[in-house]
Amino acid sequence: MEVIIRPTTQEAVHLTARLIADAINAKPEFKLGLATGATMEAVYADLAAMNQRNEVDFSLVKTFNLDEYIGLPPEDKNSYRYYMNYHLFRHINIDIRNTNLPDGMAKDEVAEGERYEAAIRDCGGIDLQLLGIGSDGHIGFNEPISSLAGRTRSKALTPATYAQNSIYFNPPESMPRRAFTMGVGTILDARRIIMLITGARKAGIAAKALEGPVTSMVTGSALQLHPRTVVILDEAAAAELTQKEYYNWVFANEPEWAQYR
Ligand code: PGA
Repeated sequence: MEVIIRPTTQEAVHLTARLIADAINAKPEFKLGLATGATMEAVYADLAAMNQRNEVDFSLVKTFNLDEYIGLPPEDKNSYRYYMNYHLFRHINIDIRNTNLPDGMAKDEVAEGERYEAAIRDCGGIDLQLLGIGSDGHIGFNEPISSLAGRTRSKALTPATYAQNSIYFNPPESMPRRAFTMGVGTILDARRIIMLITGARKAGIAAKALEGPVTSMVTGSALQLHPRTVVILDEAAAAELTQKEYYNWVFANEPEWAQYR
């Protein structure tokens, strides 16, 4: 794992978007894993701006989102399909048929999990998975005690996730209690992972996930098992990390980061 701390949120976001764009430019038929949430909105705005400046081309890219609420149709403003169309897909030159999310309206939940896993597998697997982290340490909707070997399936959401996300629903109680999510095992199969963590409210969980023990109580800690993960934080989110000096030395001195400093 590599940890990169940028002084501001904007710089952390910008580095994340640049790494994604560079990876796509190196392999146009790219399979990109995407995340939702407030943190990612600025990343998608950056990628859209780069696409409009012809700095990155999505015409051959296929995307797979991490998760979707169960019971929300695509046109519901709180569905992740709606979020993705709104924040990214309508602004870039992607073929919408190449964008994938679990179907929140699927009747057979087990079959939907299997269908999504097969779709990822059939296109050769995910080249790069973008991740945020929830206030309870989740990646995707892999809530505490999710199997670290889990695959795409339905999952009940924790009170912490409910508190974090129900503010977007009107009324808040209309937030679904369950969601489809890629499993931690699905996520760890991605060839590369980039996690972005910003803001002071994530400082405690960031320290637990990156420097604490690997545990299903904090599914973000499973990234410690992945051979090619970069975690990008702003100063506020990095406040409780103990090895900051080391991370900063690596970013300032290792040749692979020279073009991004
Ligand atoms: P946030 O969500 O970006 O809205 O904080 C992240 C997550 O829950 O994974």
